[in-house]
Amino acid sequence: MAKLRVVGGNPLCGSVRASGSKNAAVAAIPAALLAHGPSRLENVPVIGDVEVFVDILRELGADISWRGPGVLEINPNGFEEWQAPYDLVKRLRASYYLLGALLAKFGRAEVALPGGCDIGVRPVDLHLKGFRALGAEVSLEYGVVKARAERLQGATIYLDDASVGATINIMLAACLAEGTTIIENAAREPHVADVANYLNAMGARIHGAGTEFVRIQGVPYLAGGEHTIIPDEIEVGTYMMAAVATGGEICIENAIAKHLEAVAAKLRETGAEVETDGDWIRVKGPSRPRAANVRTLRYPGFPTDLQQPYVSVAARAEGVSVVHETIYENRFAFVSELLRMGAKIKVEGRTAIVQGVERLLGAPVRARNDLRGGAALVVAALAAEGESEIDDLQYIERGYERLDDKLRALGAEVTRVP
Ligand code: EPZ
Repeated sequence: MAKLRVVGGNPLCGSVRASGSKNAAVAAIPAALLAHGPSRLENVPVIGDVEVFVDILRELGADISWRGPGVLEINPNGFEEWQAPYDLVKRLRASYYLLGALLAKFGRAEVALPGGCDIGVRPVDLHLKGFRALGAEVSLEYGVVKARAERLQGATIYLDDASVGATINIMLAACLAEGTTIIENAAREPHVADVANYLNAMGARIHGAGTEFVRIQGVPYLAGGEHTIIPDEIEVGTYMMAAVATGGEICIENAIAKHLEAVAAKLRETGAEVETDGDWIRVKGPSRPRAANVRTLRYPGFPTDLQQPYVSVAARAEGVSVVHETIYENRFAFVSELLRMGAKIKVEGRTAIVQGVERLLGAPVRARNDLRGGAALVVAALAAEGESEIDDLQYIERGYERLDDKLRALGAEVTRVP
């Protein structure tokens, strides 16, 4: 397992460029299977989760290859596999998008459930509710979701919770259905609209993606399309947290400031200066952040994926910050590692009470199987005095492209130890 050695305590200064959105890429890749011709995806981040999905599709027989840095070409012609076995899909949670894509393409799909991860149970009941509403027969047998439908029929589907995955999976299934589908209480995250833009470039007729009402008019046919993946707002937000935690001043280019309004507002509350324009964000951290409370919410609220890096900011803030996690039931496991750095945090259910300390001290810590918790440990190590060593680095590299290069570009003293 690779490690990241960090000598912290220095303010980050400099510029980095945001990479393409992981969560948009892992939805666009299976979406390409719906077309009758090749698609070209640009600004695809070269990260663990994307490389795993490329492997999975190759194993299933898809013709998918890198055509240059960040450029993926996917040709679904000749792709006939509608079964995705557990030993393949267990490597990637987002493999559940194969359900919507294969069901739409073949009228049937058998995809093993990828299982949860460290942050919660991760149910898919809303995904299955959507497929059933479209007329599919869906069963769960021995850990495999089996779905089949002679012809998917458009329907109106209300999501009890504005689930990102369910919204995208239903969009994928509804694209080629007969008639119109409406998703009510749909997720509004930026990558929902991004995937819809790509599907529309292929000939789909999706309206309202990015709002709580998405309308999909089924079409008989999708052609291959070209699409450039949007920047990853969670990656950008993570670097913003690192700037504030270290009292540094950084500029993140190729960022869509609008996607981070809640994060910018919160960091201003801690005393940071955040200047934004169309496609860059400049963050100047105070010498020591002030405490500020956070409640994670569905977009456009404060994103759950930045709750963990934010706790690392609060860990050395002046005062007590109350951080409440509304999306997942268990997203504070990483706190046990922060305590090793001298943080003073109490976790009670979905709430962390963070009493900021003047100084964090470097220590050996482990990311375990928690991508954003691992990112939080990197943020804390950059702020901590002395040396830290973060183990299980590949879990962090699942979602952060060229992490060590980008941190070094910001003046951080980091070494990737293979
Ligand atoms: C996506 O996961 C992201 N992953 C997650 O990012 C992100 O945390 C999450 O959206 C919320 O923004 C990808 O896009 C690949 P959800 P997803 O369904 O779609 C309830 C990261 O670090 N729920 O929006 O799986 C349940 O309470 C990852 O990049 C149901 O009840 O998340 C669950 O806790 C982590 N039934 C919550 O929603 C369902 O059928 C999850 O929210 C589905 C969800």
